Amino acid sequence: MLLIQLTGLSGAGKSTIAFLVKEQLASLQIPCTIIDGDEYRKTLCADLGFSREDRCENIRRLGGVAHEYNKKGFVSIVAAINPYESARTELADLYAAKTVHIYCPLPVLIDRDTKGLYKKALLTNDHPDKINNLTGVNDPYEAPLHPDLFIDTSILSADEAVTMLTDFIRQQLHTR
Ligand code: ADX
Repeated sequence: MLLIQLTGLSGAGKSTIAFLVKEQLASLQIPCTIIDGDEYRKTLCADLGFSREDRCENIRRLGGVAHEYNKKGFVSIVAAINPYESARTELADLYAAKTVHIYCPLPVLIDRDTKGLYKKALLTNDHPDKINNLTGVNDPYEAPLHPDLFIDTSILSADEAVTMLTDFIRQQLHTR
């Protein structure tokens, strides 16, 4: 079974695309589950913060959950920022996970700012609401050098992005 690990900055569209791809796959009778960073940070990963160590542990745990679903016959999509190459390589080596870069340029994300996080990261240092470790602004994002698929959500429509990932998954399932 197939494990897809998405990676990309907050607001790039990872969860949105994953949800719509799951619907597409359902209509093709392909069971799929989404392991969403935002969701699991409230439960299994509630003890973790945003240090490099914690983010890597977060991905390790999400990968473990994804693998369990794989064993039950689900395609698993891990939708988290997943900013470190080493953590992504770990899932690729352990579970043959495929890496999909959901890309969007930072200025577009700052403009969209769906969760208001970028605004807070860009506040002055002395501001009480300042976020000091937002990925892509003041915390590292290691873009994958060789992703299995690259999707630019600033130039593609949601439909196009969803079709790209759905087709990729179908192709992966057929070549196994
Ligand atoms: S990851 O880096 O460990 O992969 P994950 O995807 O689980 O991150 O969680 C990211 C989510 O946590 C973001 O979508 C955002 O809602 C929230 N968040 C809160 N603080 C931060 C921060 N400093 N950096 C990134 N995301 C943050």
